[in-house]
Amino acid sequence: MEFVLESDSSKKTQEYGKEFSKLFKGGEILLLDGPLGGGKTTFVKGVMAGLGYSGRVLSPSFTISRLYKAEKYDVCHVDLYRLEAGDIFDTGIGADFYDKNVIYIIEWGQKLKEELSEYIEVKFEFLGEENRRLTFSMSDFCLKKFSRLIKKVLVSRHKTRSKK
Ligand SMILES: Nc1ncnc2c1ncn2[C@@H]1O[C@H](COP(=O)(O)OP(=O)(O)O)[C@@H](O)[C@H]1O
Ligand SMILES: [Mg+2]
Repeated sequence: MEFVLESDSSKKTQEYGKEFSKLFKGGEILLLDGPLGGGKTTFVKGVMAGLGYSGRVLSPSFTISRLYKAEKYDVCHVDLYRLEAGDIFDTGIGADFYDKNVIYIIEWGQKLKEELSEYIEVKFEFLGEENRRLTFSMSDFCLKKFSRLIKKVLVSRHKTRSKK
């Protein structure tokens, strides 16, 4: 099952992130995939605003990960652009996966997907200079956990396509 949203501005993508942040219950792993400039970090800015974090949000492409202390959760923002799939766990990332106080948001997260039983994934695609398509999918358990909320948060508020 997939949900598709289209964005025509960076502001809109941040709004989607902000709305999406209302889904979190703690312990989630959010994987963000798609090309450089696709809008992954922009989406994270919106998510963090939604979680009540007012500090700076930058892609941790050199440091690999950054920890944000948000109101309810610690958010670990990871960028795997420079890492090979096999090297990821050597960095210590994942030691607190599924911890209810922690949310992981992982750019280039596809590299980790095979290792995860539970995840939510957002794929970003270019449709034009300012236009992007965001496709949301998730593991079965996450879908069960979130389906009612997804309808409320994403589907009912925007023109959304969903497909099996
Ligand atoms: N609809 C849009 N959604 C997200 N970013 C957009 C959009 N339109 C233009 N942009 C621009 O594209 C760039 C996206 O960069 P960024 O979020 O860092 O991407 P990524 O993390 O995927 O490499 C930013 O400069 C942003 O202002
Ligand atoms: Mg980025």
